[in-house]
Amino acid sequence: MTWLRSPSRNRLNSWNKTKYAMGLKRIGILTGGGDCSGLNAVIRAVTRSAIIEHDAEVVGIEDGFEGLIFDRHRILSVADTKEILPLGGTILGTTNKGHPFEYREFGKDSRVVKQDYSKQTVENFKKLELDCLFVVGGDGTLQIAQRFCEMGLPIIGIPKTIDNDLVGTDYTFGYQTAVQVASDALDRLHTTGESHQRVMILEVMGRDAGWIALEAGLAGGAHIILIPEIPYQLDRVLEKIRLREEGGSPFSIMVVAEGAKKIGKDPITSEAASTRLQGMAQLGGVGDYIAREISGHIDLEVRCTVLGHTQRGGTPLAFDRVLGTRLGTEAVQAAAEKKFGNMVALQAREVVLVPLKNLAGIVRQVPVDSQLIRSAESIGVCLGR
Ligand code: F6P
Repeated sequence: MTWLRSPSRNRLNSWNKTKYAMGLKRIGILTGGGDCSGLNAVIRAVTRSAIIEHDAEVVGIEDGFEGLIFDRHRILSVADTKEILPLGGTILGTTNKGHPFEYREFGKDSRVVKQDYSKQTVENFKKLELDCLFVVGGDGTLQIAQRFCEMGLPIIGIPKTIDNDLVGTDYTFGYQTAVQVASDALDRLHTTGESHQRVMILEVMGRDAGWIALEAGLAGGAHIILIPEIPYQLDRVLEKIRLREEGGSPFSIMVVAEGAKKIGKDPITSEAASTRLQGMAQLGGVGDYIAREISGHIDLEVRCTVLGHTQRGGTPLAFDRVLGTRLGTEAVQAAAEKKFGNMVALQAREVVLVPLKNLAGIVRQVPVDSQLIRSAESIGVCLGR
């Protein structure tokens, strides 16, 4: 167990040295975009696998690509990854600003100006002498990774997002934990909603895809589930609430994805100044919007709870820890085989490689004719259509 005490390098046995003759001397890892549970499991797996199997030095880049732009990094040892498995967040920090090709900052008159820091990023990368950079991120971060691959940098992507909306992978880590948080919240809303005879609305995350709302809604016994893929009709929602009331259940539980929208309307956004540097509208408020809309049409009281970032924080479920660990170790293996420009992905229980260029900004939405949708509707859940 010498590697546990050593700061960053370990002694390899001769079997490992022969097995990995190609070797990795120095690798880097960064986490970009919104955080989620399970990121630390990936950092731990990449670090340990690179050190234990390859005797490599591991460079932790801080705060996503921002750490490469502004040269912020630290060496990670096996000891640095002790006890981080149950920790939420990322020990390396992250940001969903800091786009190296169009870095947004406040210029004169508080106007947002964009800077291209990509050359500086490549120079910093070269200074670090990395054999491979592991980029852990969602759609936006992985598209940046792909652009650097095209410029010749050796990169392997590792997919994450609580929204579970990345193409090429069955699941992203962080998603199961978010679903569990939302489903636990529904259990709690159920008892208070039934006691007070109210309509309880739970707004969950999910910008473009309704996976969290749909699976948490099924797990938590929701009566109405509204997702971005199926623009809702208010009449259908009201009908469901009334039918339940007439049938002797004068309360209803509704889950709404933040990106859900009324038929013919856009999603509800908030214009917070703090999000101007992200270059993307912040969603939120659809739960309250629906609460106001239905209040005028029914006798029952309506209450809305916004679950927000509780879905992103806290201890990861075992599923997300195991998935993070598997993706991390397979990513290191792919780097040793110089299979750059790929993302590790889970497909039918196996970790496979998917070209990063295949992501191309495509969102993996819930197919409206899927079994999951059929299951929901065949047990009487109203999807607003
Ligand atoms: O992409 C993951 C996500 O959690 C979305 O569901 C949500 O819209 C967004 O991140 C919120 O990000 P922020 O950290 O900027 O509030």
